[in-house]
Amino acid sequence: MSSSPSVGAETTRAAPIQRPTAAGGSRFGVRISGSGSAIPQTRLTNKDLEQLMDTTDEWITQRTGIRTRHVFKHDLGETTARLATQASMAAVADAGLSPSDIDLVIVASMTPDAPTPSVSCMVSSALGTQKAGAMDINAACSGFVYCMNVAHDLIRGGSYRNVLVIGADRITRHVDFSTYGRATAVLFGDGAGAVVLRRTDDDTKGLIAQAMFSDGSGAKHLYIPASKADFPDGDAFEERKIGFVQMNGSAVFKFAVGTFSRLIEQTLESAGIGPTDVDHYVCHQSNARILEAARERFGLPPEKLHVNIDRYGNTVAASVPLVFDEIRRAGRVREGHKVMFLAFGAGLTWGSSLWQV
Ligand code: ACO
Repeated sequence: MSSSPSVGAETTRAAPIQRPTAAGGSRFGVRISGSGSAIPQTRLTNKDLEQLMDTTDEWITQRTGIRTRHVFKHDLGETTARLATQASMAAVADAGLSPSDIDLVIVASMTPDAPTPSVSCMVSSALGTQKAGAMDINAACSGFVYCMNVAHDLIRGGSYRNVLVIGADRITRHVDFSTYGRATAVLFGDGAGAVVLRRTDDDTKGLIAQAMFSDGSGAKHLYIPASKADFPDGDAFEERKIGFVQMNGSAVFKFAVGTFSRLIEQTLESAGIGPTDVDHYVCHQSNARILEAARERFGLPPEKLHVNIDRYGNTVAASVPLVFDEIRRAGRVREGHKVMFLAFGAGLTWGSSLWQV
């Protein structure tokens, strides 16, 4: 892997945060009206991984905070589209809608079942949405946050009423569960989460601030090579790496810690509020130590910055909506709360979405 960890410095540069463009110019607000999630049946504990590779429960728990994760099984028909559909059915029901009310389906995924058809088309058809628009967006772990921002502005602009936004990934397709792949194998799990966003006449509801960024110069730190041509300078080609996640863990770790802090600061500044004014930080779950660093930096109590990585691992684009669905169903997200969604991931990409719910 490339050894330079300099990406953190490049990617945490100051950059303008976009305010919602429709502020003052739209009569519509946007509500998060329902949520749902789905995880594969098969649970893998750290002890299970000890049987597959040279690792220990202690190493994984101390370095990452992960204890278990769920992995798909082909035999059980657990495709990306199937998991996304299950999460969507729950979200649509939770919103009190029927699938025919949905007029756009947006899926965040970097592991579609095939290059085409898109996951969103398969979900739309499986739900029976009556020909809703459907598109997939690939921004790796940042995908769901990107899609929330895109969907919000499409509704607020007046073109759509009810948009289903899904994060779904089967990243363990690209994980080598042997000692050779142990540095990444222990981190990941599969799943899907969904929300329904609805137009409302209450224009105080919706985005307060949002941001989407990328830096392709950091692509070399986290990639899945499809052929020899995909290996960046400095990374030796090896046939057995083809199709599997390659990661410079320490470079990504530094990038993540710096980016999370900068992103929270910038988003709060754009909204004109302080860290404790936000009721819930719903963050990408990539490592408990990265989350803990952000929590300490902003002096947040554990009940504001949510962690479920211990049970699911890093589920890529599903990570943020899995957390949100969990706290929403537990009744912790209430009318009038401010919720900040945050993620970073391969690309490199990163983004935030701060909501008045
Ligand atoms: N079990 C036991 N030992 C291991 C394992 C394992 N599973 N994996 C690596 N090791 C060993 C290494 O070989 C190394 O041994 P050595 O010192 O003899 O060479 C030692 O453990 C230390 O490895 P480090 O890489 O220094 O461990 P670190 O403390 O950095 O933790 C980790 C590694 C957990 C991967 C950390 O770097 C990390 O979390 N990075 C960020 C990951 C991340 O956020 N990824 C985002 C993905 S987002 C997306 O879009 C997909």
